[in-house]
Amino acid sequence: MGFETWVREFTANAERRSEEPEPQWSAASPLPGALIRSLQRFQAGEDGDGANLIRKSVDAGDATYLAAVRLFVAEEQNHARLLKQLLLSTGEAVIEGHWTDRVFVAVRRALGLRLELMTLMVAEVVALRYYRVVRDGTADPLLTDVAARILVDEQTHVPFHTQRLREGWEGRSRPVRAAVAAGWWVLLLGAVAVVAYGHGAALRLLGVGRLRFIGDTATLFRGVVREVLFAPAEGVRPATPTVEAERPAALSMLRRPSRRLRRWAVIGLVVVGLAVALYPPAHFWGPRPYRHPDGLFGVTRGDFEDDILPHYQVSLPCDVDGLRYSNAEDVTGPMGELYLYFTTSQGCLDRILEGWAAVPAEPPTMAPTDAGFPLRAATIPDTIGWRFDAPSYQVYRREGDVVTGNVVAVRDGKRLTVYLLARYAW
Ligand SMILES: [Fe+2]
Ligand SMILES: [Fe+2]
Repeated sequence: MGFETWVREFTANAERRSEEPEPQWSAASPLPGALIRSLQRFQAGEDGDGANLIRKSVDAGDATYLAAVRLFVAEEQNHARLLKQLLLSTGEAVIEGHWTDRVFVAVRRALGLRLELMTLMVAEVVALRYYRVVRDGTADPLLTDVAARILVDEQTHVPFHTQRLREGWEGRSRPVRAAVAAGWWVLLLGAVAVVAYGHGAALRLLGVGRLRFIGDTATLFRGVVREVLFAPAEGVRPATPTVEAERPAALSMLRRPSRRLRRWAVIGLVVVGLAVALYPPAHFWGPRPYRHPDGLFGVTRGDFEDDILPHYQVSLPCDVDGLRYSNAEDVTGPMGELYLYFTTSQGCLDRILEGWAAVPAEPPTMAPTDAGFPLRAATIPDTIGWRFDAPSYQVYRREGDVVTGNVVAVRDGKRLTVYLLARYAW
């Protein structure tokens, strides 16, 4: 099967787009910061002239394929334009690029057409899941419209690349294809972990957790790997993989558990291993807000990492576990209190204290009954539930014009349990 059908399809798409009215840019309304940052990165990723891909396609010597590639590149450029217009309409800027895109482009450029397409396919599959999450997860009609338009195109990109790649790997022995599949999986899992972490706040806003995003993308990719490397059918147009389409396969997995379960267990371990290796657990698993009834301490607004921590000038540069927090103020307000609880190592606590300019109090160790103990039990709201039962604690204080606070830590073996209270006032 040649690429004539793709040329016809992409041409028809271009005609449909030219007749379709533009999204209602004038109806744009402000979007949450985390979502804006996420869209800015995807906009930068979509943006590019595709010259490298076109040049390699010229070298491949198939005029029809080249024509289809040019039309495909035009679709991607249209995605960048739509996202740019969306950002500008909401009063936001576009960004020059993001390190993840620069790495991605550098890798693609260094490869031949076939390996470039395999790298590109990883981005296409991630995009397929991402734009669906955006389309289904936002109540903003303009953003829904833009994401839906992009998604329709992305759904044809995966089978388009599948066809070319399937031809590229045809005739190779099964062990070679299995090795290629393994490498491709590593690439996909690394890329999707980077996206799931980097866009975690936006994904949360859109109602999808990081692990679910990784799992869904892996499910889509599984279908792609099978179509490209292990599908016997010739002359059949590759299908767009869907998460839903995988469900029957999941059922048959129950009937033949051993091989498939082993494979999924390995994939799962690689995902978790990569994610944990790349990101400190506190960031990966996400902090947990204290659950409160309504009231003074019931307010927790803003994204934890992007808004709340910077507001109180706190940074968590290293591994902490069991992170819980509450901020008793709108983060843009003139007064507020941040309650932070976690366990960590002495080395990590030292880094956090240094970053926050907190110094040992005088004396540096106190019993909770001492008059100078900074976190008096009576002043801690019941909803936070901090109790100080150990005989003595390491105590620290931070002085400042705007942010002041105290840290109390108690050792339990090699770990420290840390209570940090930051006060913001100006
Ligand atoms: Fe795209
Ligand atoms: Fe695409």
